[in-house]
Amino acid sequence: MNQPKLEEIKREEFKTKPNFSKEDVKDVLDKIVKIVDHMLLKFHGDVFPRACSKGYVYDTVGNLVWDETNNESIWTTSFWTGILWLMYEYTHDEKYKKEAQLHSDSFRTRIENYYHKDEQEAGLNHHDIGFLYCITTVADYKLTGSEKALETSLMAAKLLSKRYIDKAKILQAWGDMNDENQRGRMIIDCNLNIPLLYFANSFSSNDTYYQMAYNHVKTASEYLIRPDASTFHTFHMDTETGAPRFGSTHQGYSDNSCWARGQAWGIMGFPISYGYTKDEVFLDKAKCLANYFLNRLPKDFVCNWDLIFQNENDQRDTSAAAVAAIGLLELAKHLPLTDASKRVYENACLYITKSLSEKYLGTNQEGILKSGVYFYHGNLGIDEYLIFGDYFFVELLIRLYKDWNSYW
Ligand code: GLY
Repeated sequence: MNQPKLEEIKREEFKTKPNFSKEDVKDVLDKIVKIVDHMLLKFHGDVFPRACSKGYVYDTVGNLVWDETNNESIWTTSFWTGILWLMYEYTHDEKYKKEAQLHSDSFRTRIENYYHKDEQEAGLNHHDIGFLYCITTVADYKLTGSEKALETSLMAAKLLSKRYIDKAKILQAWGDMNDENQRGRMIIDCNLNIPLLYFANSFSSNDTYYQMAYNHVKTASEYLIRPDASTFHTFHMDTETGAPRFGSTHQGYSDNSCWARGQAWGIMGFPISYGYTKDEVFLDKAKCLANYFLNRLPKDFVCNWDLIFQNENDQRDTSAAAVAAIGLLELAKHLPLTDASKRVYENACLYITKSLSEKYLGTNQEGILKSGVYFYHGNLGIDEYLIFGDYFFVELLIRLYKDWNSYW
């Protein structure tokens, strides 16, 4: 088994709690309610924000027809719905619920279109079905008990399971299952798609979904993590023999660097899988990833877009910071009080949240979290709002504000 290095955490600050109270969290959430209400004037019904803003203003995108020029929107429309569900939980205002439930219908139509209309146009030929359905129809079911939302979630899980390759024990990330260039390629982001399978498994008469999920995360923890506890963004498996081939990147700086959001998907995703499987390996490895991440933060605790960059003036990626901060909470939640790192992770989470709240909260009412990076080498969404960065920042605040029943 690959046992990555557990670095000692260098930042002294993490030994103590920062000055950031629940009242402070509430103040930020109250500001976000105003931003979301402003965004709702533009984004309602089947009109969603694009994956990233341009000049800090989101353009619109639909959910039902995949426009190839908008390739990035195929996995991100759900984050706006997720924000609405979180707003509903925070305010109990029915208007957010009403809007989010309309989205559930749209996500149902999208999956029906896949089967009965145009597979390509439905934009579901990838593993991000988990990102699309956990925070829309799964959230709907968990919050309202809607049977239709449950049925849609199970349809989505079934579709996701078709990407499982038994020989390699992974879910293939992208492309047609016979695509030579994509066959056998898994990516660290999939850690957040997996919860859809755990969810569906609890409604199943056998444990096939659970086995797929567990096997995938096990393979991911074996090969996507390097010995120094940094991560590859993607890893290629031989689908004939099941043997590991090589790591590579898509959104990071280079094949050998450590893409910050990828590391964050690991820090958040492995403890989530621990919650479902109780496999200690996932917690141990998440600790290694977390320490590597925390040792490479600039002074303001908000990571640069790739951890190879450690200068104060390099480009931050606040979305990675928000995801990692949630991961630190999720990790700490599973650690016993006797484990000294439990408090360190909780404190580190608060330092990151405080910095995001004080330095990076949107000021033009058009989005929530500034200074995200979507795809640096693709020149897409650099120093912009990202709808998923917005979502995860709100989820982070809600987790700090109340006892939250996770959508994942
Ligand atoms: N899952 C794609 C991304 O993190 O940009």
